[in-house]
Amino acid sequence: MTAARHDAEFPIARPRRLRRGPALRRLVAQTRVLPENLILPLFVKEGLTEPVAISSMPGQVQHTRESLRKAAREAVEAGVGGLMLFGIPEHKDGVGSQADDPDGVVQVALRELSAEVGDDIVVMADLCLCEYTDHGHCGPLEESGHVDNDLTLERYASVAVAQAEAGAAVVAPSGMMDGQVGAIRAALDRAGFPHVPILAYAAKYASVFYGPFREAAEGAPQFGDRSGYQQDPANVRESLREVALDVAEGADMVMVKPGLAYLDVVAKVAESSPVPVSAYQVSGEYAMIEAAAEKGWLDRERAILETLTSYRRAGAEQILTYWATEAARLLR
Ligand code: PBG
Repeated sequence: MTAARHDAEFPIARPRRLRRGPALRRLVAQTRVLPENLILPLFVKEGLTEPVAISSMPGQVQHTRESLRKAAREAVEAGVGGLMLFGIPEHKDGVGSQADDPDGVVQVALRELSAEVGDDIVVMADLCLCEYTDHGHCGPLEESGHVDNDLTLERYASVAVAQAEAGAAVVAPSGMMDGQVGAIRAALDRAGFPHVPILAYAAKYASVFYGPFREAAEGAPQFGDRSGYQQDPANVRESLREVALDVAEGADMVMVKPGLAYLDVVAKVAESSPVPVSAYQVSGEYAMIEAAAEKGWLDRERAILETLTSYRRAGAEQILTYWATEAARLLR
């Protein structure tokens, strides 16, 4: 016995020492997920009288104005840090007119939410046109069918001002148009909103994991896909460039999206970004875990907490997740 302790092959280091019991493990945990770093995405649909369940995202709904306010209050009570609002208008057209209409669905919701919970949680607005255009692309189209980048910038600038006027505490452009952050910054400054931060969806990939969201937000492209403006999953250097450009144009925070399949990108961006880094646990990630849990194939709560921990470990400071309220309660 004693002789064995001096054997060459006997463990020299014993990392297991610090894993012996929950108290020790808690003491040395390097990464912690805090409720205040979570951001809850919410969908509000114009003209609804009852919330509508989103079948591909069990537990998530398209909200009425009333149920939206209730969900926002629950998030506040759980200690969630932010809300990210998506609107689904009754009427769509080629340029997404409802997106910057002062009476458009998101503007109405922003006014109500910012009045009701604006002091307790950061009320953010996703800034894109895909939910508002009849063709489902993220901006008005050229004749060729491609999104017209520079015309879209004018639209985004106007949407940003409408959202800020309605009370958005942060605007979050997600359309991946070149120059969008600069155009929005200039418009906000001109309109008297120099204090409203921009959370830029900076590294946003053309991902299959947005599938369930497109049912939720009714924003699926009617033809083609988004790979003409969102990034190719094969690329990582491009993300660093997108982040650098967005920061140079005035982004106050940058986001990587999706998260789970792109944690390498999150880690690289977090290493070099001079501004806070967010990551989006997207609809497909949510759907995968919910579906597997429903079949009894994995422990749902542990899967939620483990994936959120992975995001933090990779270096994301804010995490957008449809589980924000529930996770915040679990973390308390
Ligand atoms: C809009 C937008 C999308 C998502 C967030 N903002 C869809 C898309 O780009 O196709 C996806 C979010 C999710 O899947 O949870 N541009």
